[in-house]
Amino acid sequence: MPRIERQLAASRPWVFAILALGSAAITAGSLAYFDAGAAAPFVVEKLPLPHEQLWLLWLRVHVAAAAFALPACLVLASHTVLRRAPRVHRWLGRVAGAVMLLALAPSGFYLSLFAKGGLPSTLGFVLSGAIVVVATVEGVRAARAGRFADHRLWMLHVLAQLSVAVTSRAMLFAFDAADVNADVAYLVSLWLPVVASAVLVEMAAPRPRRRTQSTPAKGEGVDGFCPVSRDCATHLHPDLGGIHEAPPRHHQLVDAPAQLGDVARVAS
Ligand code: HEM
Repeated sequence: MPRIERQLAASRPWVFAILALGSAAITAGSLAYFDAGAAAPFVVEKLPLPHEQLWLLWLRVHVAAAAFALPACLVLASHTVLRRAPRVHRWLGRVAGAVMLLALAPSGFYLSLFAKGGLPSTLGFVLSGAIVVVATVEGVRAARAGRFADHRLWMLHVLAQLSVAVTSRAMLFAFDAADVNADVAYLVSLWLPVVASAVLVEMAAPRPRRRTQSTPAKGEGVDGFCPVSRDCATHLHPDLGGIHEAPPRHHQLVDAPAQLGDVARVAS
């Protein structure tokens, strides 16, 4: 396993805990947006807006969708849930995918038109939202086709972009404490995590090997195919949504060539 992958695997529990806490803190701080009587600073500094009620509606949709999407993606990334409760993974994945495609991203795109920092800021949010949309669609398609290595990579991109909400706010706090110009701080705190998250995923989870034959030979399974049984390709096919209901012992989800050795050992 490359060094960067090893380091990221070791820091995984900490990263997940920080993201879960960050998500909870952001949600708690956003409750004021649902109180008609309260004038939250983030809302007040936006005024006047051309369609104030519409903007407020999209903001509420956005906050509610985000409060669900980030924790849901953390649960979906859990190996334990995938192994012990594949049905939960599959159903939560469907709901989270729908929430991201129908609520989180569209609301983010609308809000981005009035974002602090003007056009550069709008473009940063649109880039992040576009990565989420493309990665979610491709990730779902990959899972349905049984291409689990692709699925994992795309969904890591989704999680990485959702994590920008947390890293970006942490950076804003740091810049504020260091008295950095607020406009510069806002742009850097947006663009840096968006780009860095995408680069980090590509570095840490390299592109999976492409499948060159319809059925893998014994011991050659990659990307969702069992390396043990030639027939396994059909077992893993889309009818199961890419996930075994009750996997036979040797049918492991192989999502990286590095795991092939382990699976072959389990089977022998
Ligand atoms: C598809 C990914 C996302 C996009 C494109 C996006 C986009 C945006 C935009 C454009 C704004 C308005 C910023 C401004 O007016 O300056 C915003 C605000 C907000 N977003 Fe997101 N966002 C995304 C994901 C998330 C996530 C995952 C969370 C929470 C974990 C989140 C929580 C919030 C909150 C609470 C606000 C209100 C502003 C605040 O209280 O800081 N967003 N988002």
